[in-house]
Amino acid sequence: MTKNFERHTITAALPYANGPVHIGHLAGVYVPADIYARYLRLQHKDVMFVCGSDEHGVPVTIRAKEEGVTVQAIVDKYHTIIKESFEAFGMSFDIYARTSNATHHQTASDFFKKLYEEGKFIEKTAEQYYDPEAQQFLADRYIQGTCPNCGNPEAYGDQCERCGTSLSPDDLGNPRSMLSGASPIRKATKHWYLPLNDYEDWLSTWILEGHKKDWKTNVYGQCKSWIEQGLQPRAVTRDLDWGVPVPVEEAAGKVLYVWFDAPIGYISATKDYFKQQGKDEAAWQPYWQDEQTKLVHFIGKDNIVFHCIIFPAMLKAHGDFILPENVPANEFLNLEGRKISTSRNWAVWLHEYLEDFPDKQDVLRYVLTANAPEAKDNDFTWADFQARNNNELVANVGNFVNRVLTLTHKYFEGKVPRLHTNFLEATDKGLIEGLSAYPKKISASIEAYRFKEALGYIMELSSTGNKYLQEKAPWLLAKDFEKNRAQIENTLHLALQVVANFTILAQPFLPFTTEKLKKALALEKSSWQEAGKTDLLAVDQPIEKTGLLFEKIEDKTIQVQQERLAAIRTAQEAAKTTNEASQNIPTIKDMIEFNDFMKLDLRVATILQAEKMSNSDKLLKITLDTGVDQRIVLSGIAKHYQPEEIVGKQVCIVANLKPKKMAGEVSQGMILMAEDSDGKLQFIQPGDLVHNGSTIS
Ligand code: 2FM
Ligand code: ZN
Repeated sequence: MTKNFERHTITAALPYANGPVHIGHLAGVYVPADIYARYLRLQHKDVMFVCGSDEHGVPVTIRAKEEGVTVQAIVDKYHTIIKESFEAFGMSFDIYARTSNATHHQTASDFFKKLYEEGKFIEKTAEQYYDPEAQQFLADRYIQGTCPNCGNPEAYGDQCERCGTSLSPDDLGNPRSMLSGASPIRKATKHWYLPLNDYEDWLSTWILEGHKKDWKTNVYGQCKSWIEQGLQPRAVTRDLDWGVPVPVEEAAGKVLYVWFDAPIGYISATKDYFKQQGKDEAAWQPYWQDEQTKLVHFIGKDNIVFHCIIFPAMLKAHGDFILPENVPANEFLNLEGRKISTSRNWAVWLHEYLEDFPDKQDVLRYVLTANAPEAKDNDFTWADFQARNNNELVANVGNFVNRVLTLTHKYFEGKVPRLHTNFLEATDKGLIEGLSAYPKKISASIEAYRFKEALGYIMELSSTGNKYLQEKAPWLLAKDFEKNRAQIENTLHLALQVVANFTILAQPFLPFTTEKLKKALALEKSSWQEAGKTDLLAVDQPIEKTGLLFEKIEDKTIQVQQERLAAIRTAQEAAKTTNEASQNIPTIKDMIEFNDFMKLDLRVATILQAEKMSNSDKLLKITLDTGVDQRIVLSGIAKHYQPEEIVGKQVCIVANLKPKKMAGEVSQGMILMAEDSDGKLQFIQPGDLVHNGSTIS
C-alpha cells in the first residue's frame, strides 16, 4: 500500500553555473520535476519544490579560465541566465537559490562540523598531483595526458572525451598540468573521507531490498552495481580556493568537495525560502526532518551515485534528516544523433530557443516529454519537433479545442448549451464513461514517474474528443437545427466538458496553454479532484474563443535550425581535420642567425618552359626568367604538375644555391614550394604580378 504523505519535498538537480541550460537539462530533469510538482499542487498537497545554481567545484573554475574572467563573474553571469531560462519555461520552483548564499555556506559548514565532531569521517594523508609552478594541487579535470585506452593525447584526469573511458589521473601517460603545462609532481596532502564502506550494509538493505520495486530500473541497476563492487571511503574535502571553506582549523585553505556541499544546497534553499517568506526559523524543518514528508530527487543519470549512495550516506551519518523516497533519474537526450556537449556547442540552448520561438515554451515542454529519455537515451531532432507540433499539438489538440469553441459561438452565442439527459445516445454515454477513467490513469502514471505515458493519455483524451465530434457531426445536424436541437446541445455540452477536462489534466504539462484555456472557459473548478466529471462548466456560462492555441511550424523555420547545427558540425569537422593535420606538421628546425638568413638570395622568376625528363619521373626541367638571366632549374614536382599547366607562372626561387647535378642535368637554383602534411605541393607566389628578379626578404 502506498503511504499517504503529509507533504512533499521535490528537488531538481542544481545545475552548475558554468554555462547556460539546454534541452537535455530540461528533458532529463526539470520538465519532469515541474510536471510532478504541478500535479501535486493541483491535488492541494503541501509541496516544496527547490532548485538553484551549483556555484562551486571545478567546472565553474574551468569556465572562468576559458572565458578569462573571475570565477565570481562566471557564476553571476550563468546564475542569471539559467534562472531566467527556467522562469521563461514555467519551472514552478518555490525557490531558485544559489550555493554561494550565506545560508548555504552556513548549512554546509554546520553539516560537516557535526560529522567531524562526531568522528564520522576518517582522515587520510595521501599523495596527489601538484603543480609545482602554479603551486597548487590539481583537480582531476586539471590534468591532461594520454588516454591508455585510445591514445588521445588530450584526455582529462577523470575522463577521456574521445573514447568516453572514466579515468583517474594515474592512468594518464605523460600527465601535464592544464594550469601551467608543467609536469605535475606527487605531494602528500591530508583530507577527510566519508567511509562509505561502513554504510554498505545499510545501503544494501535500504535500496536493494527496500526499493527494488519502486525505483526505476536504470537507477536501481546503477546502485546495485556500485554496492556490489564494494564502496570505498570518499574524500569530502579538496585543495581548492573556490568553495565552502572546511570549517576546522587543521583544514585551513581547503574547501568542501562540491558533491558534499551541493546536495546540502537543497536544504539551504528550503531555509532560504522560508527566510524570504519572513517565516519562523524552524519552518523548513518538517520538509527535511519529518517522516511524513516524501522526498523525491529529480536528476540526470550521471548524478545517480551522488543522490542514491553518497548523499543518503551523509544524511544517515548526520542523523537528523529523512531519506529520499525516490530518485527518478532520466537517461540522456541526444541532439540530431550526437551527444549534447556544452564545450562543443552541440546543443539547443534554452535562451536561444526563446529568441527563435518566443511563445512556444509549451511546444518544447510537450516534445521533450513525449520523447523523454525515461528508460533509454533518446534523440531530439528538429524534424520530430516540427512533426509533433504540426501533427499532434496543432492537428489534435488545437483543432479539437478550436472546433468546439467555434461551434459553441456559432450555434449558442458562446454560451454552454444544456444537457438533455433523456436524449443521451450510446456515443455520449461512452464519452462520459471514458472521461471518468482518465484522472486515475494519468495519476498512476505520474506517480510512477512515467510522464511520457501520462502525456499519452492526455493526448488520447483530446483524440477521443475529436473522434466524438466527428461522429456526432453537429454541423450536419444543424441543417435542421430545431429538429436536432437536443442532440446538438448535448454534443457541444459534452465536447466543452472534454475541453475543460483536458485543461485540468494538461496543466502540469502545458501550463501556458492551459492558462489561456482556463481564462477562456472561466474554469473555476480546476483542481485535479474535479477532473473526470462532466459538470465542470455550467449551463449558459459564457465561453471566450482562445485564438489559435498552436501554430503550424513551416519547413523553412526548421531549416534555419537544421542549418545552424549543420554549420557547427562542418566547422567542427574542419577544426578536427586541421587539428589532426597539425599533429603531423614537422617541428621547427634549430634557430639560425639573422645573418645566415640574409645570405639567402630569394627572387621572383617566371617559368618560360617546362618539360618532363626521360630519366626521372620526379623531376621537371624548368627554364626560368629570373630578371637577371635565363636558367635551368630541376624541380621535384613532376608527380604534382603537368609541364603545360605551369608555364607562365610566377614563382619564388632561391637564386644563389650552388648548381647541383641531378639526373644528368645541372640545376641552377631551387623553386620554393609549400608542402602540407598530406604531401600536397603548391607554388609560393607573389600576390600580384611583379618584375622578375624582385627580391624577397
Ligand atoms: O551535474 C550537475 O550539474 C551538478 N551540478 C548537479 C548537482 S545536484 C545537487 F547535488 F546539487
Ligand atoms: Zn580515450
